[in-house]
Amino acid sequence: MKDASCQWNVWVPRDISAMTNSCVVIPCTFMYPSGIRPYRGIHGIWYFGQPYPQLFPPVVFKSRTDVVHESYKGRTKLLGDLHQRNCTLLINNIGTEHSGRYYFRADLGGANMYTFPDYAELKVLDQPNIDVPEEIVSDESLELTCYAPDNCPDMSPEIQWMYTDYLPDPELSSDYLEESNTAVLSSTLTFIPRPMHNGQLLGCRVYYPNTTLVYERLISLDIKCNTWALTMPGNASHLKRAPGGRVFAHGTRPGSARNGDVGPPSSRLTTRRKVHEGPVQCGLGSSRGVAGGLNDDPIPGPKLNRQ
Ligand SMILES: *[C@@H]1O[C@H](CO)[C@@H](O)[C@H](O)[C@H]1NC(C)=O
Ligand SMILES: *[C@@H]1O[C@H](CO)[C@@H](O)[C@H](O)[C@H]1NC(C)=O
Repeated sequence: MKDASCQWNVWVPRDISAMTNSCVVIPCTFMYPSGIRPYRGIHGIWYFGQPYPQLFPPVVFKSRTDVVHESYKGRTKLLGDLHQRNCTLLINNIGTEHSGRYYFRADLGGANMYTFPDYAELKVLDQPNIDVPEEIVSDESLELTCYAPDNCPDMSPEIQWMYTDYLPDPELSSDYLEESNTAVLSSTLTFIPRPMHNGQLLGCRVYYPNTTLVYERLISLDIKCNTWALTMPGNASHLKRAPGGRVFAHGTRPGSARNGDVGPPSSRLTTRRKVHEGPVQCGLGSSRGVAGGLNDDPIPGPKLNRQ
């Protein structure tokens, strides 16, 4: 095996994200073959989109001159010390047009120039991302997680949930994830949606204190009937529904239960005929639910309970 320290190598995070108009620091270190004697210093160039010389990509930063592509003028700064093999790059005031791949090229003088094939892929977001389960089923605990990138050293994000007033006993927890020198703050909202919450709005707001930067994302709840709750009313809390709508006694393997096996949840909140006699309950607020699942761009403002 060859010693990695004797080869051309670069370490950058594969994925990194940032909010628009904030900044991002792309951590970067590199190695070059030990036989190379840098001639007139160590220089570096950052390229956007393609590895040089493919299609002559825009220059993001260049240590030899300050000639960079128009869209990076006055925005970039090398924080790392190239003589310490540190190519860490700062990009200020970023926009969604700066989303893409960033390639580093080391320039040790003469013919010793090398574009590393590994790149960092930057995602610039104008709204926070929210993780929503594929299926939201009434009367089952629901977790929604909202994310805020934290890769701008000048400012730290905070996360707030919006329109949670009408939720029964909402619980909040936050987490901080660091990976490959990048960081993401997250906030998870947990509650038990009821049929009456179908079509209602929830929002996540990410902001950076002491700045004017605020980002919001709204979702509307598309709640599906818990058909299990309909067919087995009463205290069924010791039973859990398996993925795909099958139910099984807690502790047994999915599919092994018999009497609770009621098929997938209904696709929309509607009044459904149940297997057994008795009133159907999962129809509250159903007929005017927001169509088409989670909507990225619903009408602003929360809906009131329709009763
Ligand atoms: C590279 O430089 C950045 C900016 O100065 C610094 O935060 C980071 O710790 C350095 N990385 C290494 C591996 O020294
Ligand atoms: C915001 O500014 C105030 C006053 O300058 C300061 O005390 C506080 O620490 C700052 N908060 C953040 C998150 O930078």
